[in-house]
Amino acid sequence: MNNEIPLSLYVHIPWCIKKCPYCDFNSHEKNQSFDEDRYVKALLIDLNEEYKYCQQRTLSSIFFGGGTPSLFSADAIKRVIDHARSLFKFNDIEITLEANPGTFEQEKFTAFRDAGVNRLSIGIQSFNASHLKALGRIHDEKQALTAVETARNAGFNNINLDLMFGLPQQTIQQATDDINIACQFDVPHISHYQLTIESNTYFYKHTPILPEIDLIWEMQTQCQNLLAKNKFHQYEISAYSKHGKQCQHNINYWQFSDYIGIGAGAHGKLSDINIANDSVNIVRRWKHRQPQQYMDKTLIGDSLSGEQTLSQQDIVFEFLLNALRLKSGSDIQNFKRNTGLNYEILRETVKNIDTSLLTINDKSVNTTDKGFLFLNEILENLV
Ligand SMILES: C[S@@+](CC[C@H](N)C(=O)[O-])C[C@H]1O[C@@H](n2cnc3c(N)ncnc32)[C@H](O)[C@@H]1O
Ligand code: SF4
Repeated sequence: MNNEIPLSLYVHIPWCIKKCPYCDFNSHEKNQSFDEDRYVKALLIDLNEEYKYCQQRTLSSIFFGGGTPSLFSADAIKRVIDHARSLFKFNDIEITLEANPGTFEQEKFTAFRDAGVNRLSIGIQSFNASHLKALGRIHDEKQALTAVETARNAGFNNINLDLMFGLPQQTIQQATDDINIACQFDVPHISHYQLTIESNTYFYKHTPILPEIDLIWEMQTQCQNLLAKNKFHQYEISAYSKHGKQCQHNINYWQFSDYIGIGAGAHGKLSDINIANDSVNIVRRWKHRQPQQYMDKTLIGDSLSGEQTLSQQDIVFEFLLNALRLKSGSDIQNFKRNTGLNYEILRETVKNIDTSLLTINDKSVNTTDKGFLFLNEILENLV
């Protein structure tokens, strides 16, 4: 296995108190299948299995995503971190946990901190009462406000706030109000997502009236200006951070580095690249999606639902799919290291893309400012 490519660990926690009408993540309402102890046992077995493919490697980040990981006890999270520590070498790495307002208690968050979690990603979505209601969130605006304070009091400084825009009936003023409130908390990171209507969601069947596209466009521009004014640097389509506070875990994905995925429906990608022998083997592996099935199967040593070895074409496309999301693009050294392929293959793949949208030379490949507005078109063109 290639030891130079950074390696992250993603841990999926698949339950939520209630399913939000817009959400198509692998998240399930907390019901009879919820069994924290059994799920953690499965996670540890899953991690042991994955470890076989990446022994001797160092972890560069851990991310507990969901679902709602903050539904789990701090003890459960600690068992996973401790187990990772017993297998892999790592010291001071970023360990993020996604948390929902409405699942916030001071004591629990202090215990998360003690367990080793050092970054929180809080799903605020909006500070506006009627928008939170329209989104079917379990929390109100007061809980959204207190969540950040609670996180701070529990000792967290490295905090991300998730906000969405383009919400039903939302005005530009309301969208910028959300950004202004988030900035007042002086957090180092904000993720700002445009609400998308995904198939397999309640909103797909009963689609609310969303703002016109021109209005959403203007909303995004004004929010971006406001974020810039507050010293947030946009480093990816939806990610904004203060200096040096980018999410290391997500950067790893976007730079096409390696990751292990454990938990229901989790995906991983591991590379075995030997440039001297000209050999490239990149494998994606994913786990059973339904929590009950995941636990039943993993506990008898069968966590894997599927795996795929990427073709050269898949590798270049997936690399671009990720790298082009980054404002800084990717340097060609990174491309060579993480794909084992040469510059000519990359240049050949993008040769039909207009240079006003994408630039490439033997140092780097970048989406232009105009290209960012047409990223989907670029990717469709590549397909
Ligand atoms: C893995 S999700 C869930 C995190 C956490 N459970 C929560 O909801 O607070 C991460 C983020 O994706 C965003 N998101 C989820 N569904 C979306 C959608 N349909 N359109 C845009 N953003 C979405 C939300 O901002 C959410 O906080
Ligand atoms: S709480 Fe988060 S993960 Fe759960 S259903 Fe809502 S958006 Fe999806």
